[in-house]
Amino acid sequence: MNKLKHVALIVDGNGRWAKQRGKIRSEGHLAGSKMLERIILHAARNTDIEVLSLYVFSTENFKRDKDEVKYLMNLFLKWFTISGKKYRKDNIKIIFSGRKEPLSDEVYNAMKKLEERTKDHTGLIVNFCLNYGGRAEIVDATKKIASELKEGKIKEEDITEEYFSTRLYNKLPDVDFVIRTSGEQRISNFLLWEISYAEFLFVDTYFPDFDEKCFDEAISKYYNRDRRFGNAKK
Ligand code: IPE
Ligand code: IPE
Ligand code: MG
Repeated sequence: MNKLKHVALIVDGNGRWAKQRGKIRSEGHLAGSKMLERIILHAARNTDIEVLSLYVFSTENFKRDKDEVKYLMNLFLKWFTISGKKYRKDNIKIIFSGRKEPLSDEVYNAMKKLEERTKDHTGLIVNFCLNYGGRAEIVDATKKIASELKEGKIKEEDITEEYFSTRLYNKLPDVDFVIRTSGEQRISNFLLWEISYAEFLFVDTYFPDFDEKCFDEAISKYYNRDRRFGNAKK
């Protein structure tokens, strides 16, 4: 059976969910954040997934209307400030992937604090990809390696795929399964290095309606896939 260590979820369709109901986009984001919290707890309590990566804000999302960006940043700030206790109860470790700039110090400090508060937890790792871009991550890793090379800490022949992986934002297993909600069938700059052999599932449901049952159905589809990693079928 396929192993499933790392699930990556592209949380999409909050805006359309709201529009469909005659609500404003921020109401979609609020509903999406509540569903996301349910999915996190469900994954921690009822599955043996080791890592759940969540695409919650891309580097490109800063192009959006400033009121929408402000709403999302406030939502993150509130969420990260109050969630420490709950994550302790469920032994969830929170990490973040992404760039600092142009996040405010307030939001960034809340992220760092939550990471610090949950760093010794040994259950599900939740990797929030916030102000995250896949190309930015590859460029940032390349810069780290370039300076190590310049300082003589490594030699050119040390630069292998395995080594490169260790210079990404976090040391995590490769992604096994990517799920995107809302019907869009694209990757939108998510975890470009880590998904090289991942399986993909695109579901039409808008994220605020993507509940525990939808999550379980998605996971069961993964187990029916035939992963070959370039090998021929015996
Ligand atoms: C996903 O929902 C949440 C974020 C990108 C922050 P969207 O806001 O992209 O919703 P749609 O795609 O406009 O419906
Ligand atoms: C991708 O969704 C980013 C997140 C889910 C955070 P978008 O809604 O921003 O992606 P595009 O613009 O449809 O590609
Ligand atoms: Mg979208």
